[in-house]
Amino acid sequence: MLRTLMASIVLVLATATGAWTQNVDVIKQRQDLLEQMGKAAKGPGQMMKQEIPFDEPTVQAALDTVIANAAKLPGLFPEDSKTGGETEALPAIWENKADVTSRYEKLVADAKAAKVAVSDEFEFMETWPKVAGNCGGCHKKYRVEKK
Ligand code: HEC
Repeated sequence: MLRTLMASIVLVLATATGAWTQNVDVIKQRQDLLEQMGKAAKGPGQMMKQEIPFDEPTVQAALDTVIANAAKLPGLFPEDSKTGGETEALPAIWENKADVTSRYEKLVADAKAAKVAVSDEFEFMETWPKVAGNCGGCHKKYRVEKK
């Protein structure tokens, strides 16, 4: 009897710990991918403000990062990742999963279109805001506002 009880307690603990680990992992994964996009977008952002000179390879690399990472992001908001790991994701995400997914898809599509367009500085100036506009729009709706 005691042995069975002990065994089920161990099992319950293991399951609970497993679930906890999984959701913190997934939160970390999506934050890392977003963080990389943020870092990648920094150079092009400075080029937009003409703080640094236009450099096409940097812009292309940033777009590659955005395309690769944004494609993975829709799968990184499972039900068990609403809280924990200092997530800034708002509960509204899980009530509007289709909208969140289509926003990431639009970001990928806009970044792909930009890769073809950003061959010179003027085209870059016109195209980059179309890519970066996707970031702020989603953050406003689905991310905890920074104080
Ligand atoms: C479809 C919605 C959506 C789009 C589009 C989006 N983000 Fe986010 N972003 C989020 C959410 C939600 C979080 C909070 C994630 C969390 O903490 O679990 C976040 C967090 C971040 C973070 C903080 C990551 C960390 O370390 O906690 C950065 C940086 C970031 N996004 C950059 C970007 C950039 C740059 C773009 C555009 C190229 C972008 N995001 C596009 C939804 C989006």
